[in-house]
Amino acid sequence: MPLKWWQRAVFYQIYPRSFADSNGDGIGDLDGVTAHLDYLNGSADSLGIDAIWLNPVNPSPLDDWGYDVSDYCGIHPDLGDLASFDRLVAAAHRRGIRVIVDLVPNHTSNQHPWFIESRSSAANPKRDWYIWVPGSPTRPPNNWQSTFGGSAWKFEAATRAWYLHMFLEQQPDLNFRNPEVVEAIHDVIRFWLDRGADGFRIDVIAGLIKDAQLRDNPLRTATDPDIPWHAKGTQDPLYSHDRPEVHDIIRGFRRVSESYGDGASDDRILVGETWPREHERLADFLRPDELELAFNFRFLLARYDASRFRAAIEQTERSFGAGAWPTWTLSNHDFPRHITRYSREGDTDARARVAAVMLLTLRGTPFIYYGEEIGMRDAAIPAELKLDPVGRDGCRSPMQWSAARNGGFSTNDATWLPCGDFKAVNVAQQLNDTHSLLSLYRRLIQLRKQTPALAEGTYREFESAAEDCLVFHRETPSQHVIVALNMSNEPRELKTPTGKILLSTTAERAGESIASLSLAPNEAVILGASA
Ligand code: GLC
Repeated sequence: MPLKWWQRAVFYQIYPRSFADSNGDGIGDLDGVTAHLDYLNGSADSLGIDAIWLNPVNPSPLDDWGYDVSDYCGIHPDLGDLASFDRLVAAAHRRGIRVIVDLVPNHTSNQHPWFIESRSSAANPKRDWYIWVPGSPTRPPNNWQSTFGGSAWKFEAATRAWYLHMFLEQQPDLNFRNPEVVEAIHDVIRFWLDRGADGFRIDVIAGLIKDAQLRDNPLRTATDPDIPWHAKGTQDPLYSHDRPEVHDIIRGFRRVSESYGDGASDDRILVGETWPREHERLADFLRPDELELAFNFRFLLARYDASRFRAAIEQTERSFGAGAWPTWTLSNHDFPRHITRYSREGDTDARARVAAVMLLTLRGTPFIYYGEEIGMRDAAIPAELKLDPVGRDGCRSPMQWSAARNGGFSTNDATWLPCGDFKAVNVAQQLNDTHSLLSLYRRLIQLRKQTPALAEGTYREFESAAEDCLVFHRETPSQHVIVALNMSNEPRELKTPTGKILLSTTAERAGESIASLSLAPNEAVILGASA
C-alpha cells in the first residue's frame, strides 16, 4: 500500500504565542506564523516541513494557556481572528503545508458558556454536560487525583455538588456519556474542517470517558522512568482514563473527519495525545476507524542513552506491528526541551545532532518542536515572570530568529515570556552555515524524502553493535540503509557491509566509501549499504 501523506510528512509543532509577533504587542500571533512560512517550506532554503500543528488558538482565560477553551469556534484575540486563521491556512496550502489544530474536548474553561449554565442550577439543561456528584463538602466522590496535583473534585456550595476536573479546577471535565456533548464536539470538528483545517491533534483523548460508577483508582504498582505518566502521581488511573468506551467516542470523531475529502484518501487526520495506561496499548488507538496517528511519548523523558532509546523503539515496534504507524517526538510544550535535558550530561551540541538523526530516520512520522532545529534550550524564567501554573514556561519561550532585539521575535519592549539566549542560538546565524544544526535538520529531511528505505522501509535492530551505540537497518526490497548512532564519548568501530556514507553529523563524510565503519564520539552516520 502506498504511504498516506501523513506517513510521509515531517510535522512541525508551533506554539503560536511564541513563534512570531506581527503586531508588536509582545505576543506571537497567526499573522506572525503566516509571515514565516517560507522558513518551513516553499523556498530554496526552507526546512522542508509538510504539516504544522498549532497549539490551541481558541479564546481562553489562559489559566492553562489555551487548554482551557471558552469558545471552541473562535480565535483568541491575542492571536488574531478567524480571517487571520483563514489567511494562514491559505498561505500554508499554497506552499504544500497542511495545518492541524489542537482540539481540547476533555474539558472546557470554567468560563465557557456551557459550564456557566451547567453550574447555575442542578435543574439546568446543561447540568449533565459536566460530571456532577451531589454530596457534602467534606467527602469528595472518590480518590481521583488531578494530573496537576490534589483531588480532581471541586465542591460548589451553591448546588451542594462536586464537579470533576482532571486538570485545574478552572478546567471542568465534559461528560462524554451525554450524547449532546458528543454532538457538540462533532460540530466543533466540522467547524474547523469546513474552514480548511487538515485535521486535529486531540488533547487527552484517552481520558474522554470515565468509569460509569466512578470507582476509586488503585495505587500504581509498576513504574518506568521513561513513561511520563508514571512520573505524574502514584495512582494507576484505571477508572479515570483509557476506559474501553473511549474507542466509541473516537470512532465517532473519525466518522466526522472521514466524511470530508474523498473518504478513501484519509485527507483529514486525527492525531491523539494518547496516554494509554500501558504503553503497549498505544497501538489500540490506531485502527482504520479510529486515530491515524498517536503521540508516542517515550522519548520525552528518556535520558541520552542508547539502551533507553533502544528499549523504547523495540517496544514500540513490537507492539505496533506492521498495521500501526508510529510517531516520534523528542520535545513538546509540556516538558523540558531535549537539548536542555541532554545538557545536564555532556557534549550538548553533538548530542542534539545525534538525536536529530534518530528522530528523522526511525520508521514513523517525526514531530519537530519549534526551535529544536536550531538547538533552542529552555529559557531561564525568573520567579516573578513565571506564568504557567505547573512550571512549563521554559520550553515555551519565543522563537529565536536572529541576534536582534528579542531575537527578532517582537519589536515590543517586553515579550509575553522572556527570550532565551538568542545571541548564541538563532536562525539567521545558522541559515547559511552548512555545519549548523539547522542545516543538518534540512539535509536529513531532504535525505528522508529522497531515500525510500528511510521513508517507508522496515526497521530491524543491527545485530552486533556496542551497548552504547544505537544501530538499525531500514530496508525496502531494493534499498538497504544502516543508521549508526554512537551515543558514547568514545570512538567506536562497527562491522558493517560495504557501502557509501550518505550523511554524517561530524565531518564532511558524505560520499565516503567504507568497508567497516569508524564512528567518532557522539557521531551519527547514515550508510547506504551496497548489498
Ligand atoms: C495536555 C496538554 C497540556 C495541557 C493538558 C490539559 O496534556 O498538552 O499542555 O495542560 O493537556 O489540557
